[in-house]
Amino acid sequence: MKVLGLETSCDETSVSILENGEIKSNLISSQDFHSDFGGVVPELSSRAHLQILLPLIKRALKQGNISLNEIDLVCATAGPGLIGALLVGLTFAKGLSFSLQKPFVPVNHIEGHIYSGFLMNEKPEFPFLCLVVSGGHTLLLIVKSDDEIIQLGKTLDDAVGEAFDKISKLLGLGYPGGPAIQDVANKNISSKLIEFPIAQCKREFDFSFSGLKTAVLRFIHTEYQNIQNISKEDIALIAASFQKTAVLALTRIVEKAIKKFPVNSISLVGGVAANELLRYELIEVSKKYKKKLVIPNLEYCGDNAAMIAYRGLRLHQNGNKFSLDYKAFPGLKANSFTFID
Ligand code: KG4
Ligand code: ZN
Repeated sequence: MKVLGLETSCDETSVSILENGEIKSNLISSQDFHSDFGGVVPELSSRAHLQILLPLIKRALKQGNISLNEIDLVCATAGPGLIGALLVGLTFAKGLSFSLQKPFVPVNHIEGHIYSGFLMNEKPEFPFLCLVVSGGHTLLLIVKSDDEIIQLGKTLDDAVGEAFDKISKLLGLGYPGGPAIQDVANKNISSKLIEFPIAQCKREFDFSFSGLKTAVLRFIHTEYQNIQNISKEDIALIAASFQKTAVLALTRIVEKAIKKFPVNSISLVGGVAANELLRYELIEVSKKYKKKLVIPNLEYCGDNAAMIAYRGLRLHQNGNKFSLDYKAFPGLKANSFTFID
């Protein structure tokens, strides 16, 4: 079974080929020019996907040593994401499916992230607790089976990746903010971190990051009045303190959930799963509760088409069929599972 996966939901164009569930190629082309604008510009993103998608598909086929006619299944991200960007990959996939006369599977981007753990040698075991941390979403889920995913909690405001991006912008560290904050935080030499507050939400598994963002902003205004007045050392201290608080806000809720629900493993997925401190702290939590922990390799934390192809393959193998009328959707919508809120 040879699967082609396309991912164009935001600022990464990615094409992957799987053969019998094994990754033959996973090419990712990042649209770095958005950093000049301090964030993703939707229209520029769609145009860049249009330009790069076809050459990237050709390269992926070559790398996988597979010809287009051998493809058995065509999968593409249908949402959530930027609508114009989604339409590029989704429409291309529909056209390809029609011309090859091979089935087409639209994939929910978040489900793709959830299944990125299955691309690793050590796979998650059902039921597993899944923390999805990306630029657009922060979700805590229990994945009971391929078609039963229960939402325990979500962010009530900013996604954690968004908080990293905003604080990075505030500190003049650029976009994307996660890696920039992490790099600068690693340079911190002060042993005493600034104590920023962690929000307590009404529902025990929900998250909130906008208060933390405001606390950092207030701290800067009170202590320095202006960003220009902050030394490099203090920038590193603020970045490290913010990162520590954001990570703790996530891990303490994961810990609460482990205590309450009988799960066989834990999985950390999404762009922010690349964060070293978060990975380290979750390893500690998993050791404490003797749970298997699956965190994808860095290549599969951010947006990639291998996770889309893999989730699409599972949906297909489970007998799901999708029409070419399937529409792209910008918001979080479940297309195949029980997403209990
Ligand atoms: O999953 P992803 O690639 O795209 C979305 O679907 O949103 O996640 C991108 C997010 C960005 O907010 C980026 O700043 C964050 O992941 N990120 C990180 C790190 N690397 C990427 N956040 C914290 N630490 C990192 N090392
Ligand atoms: Zn993503």
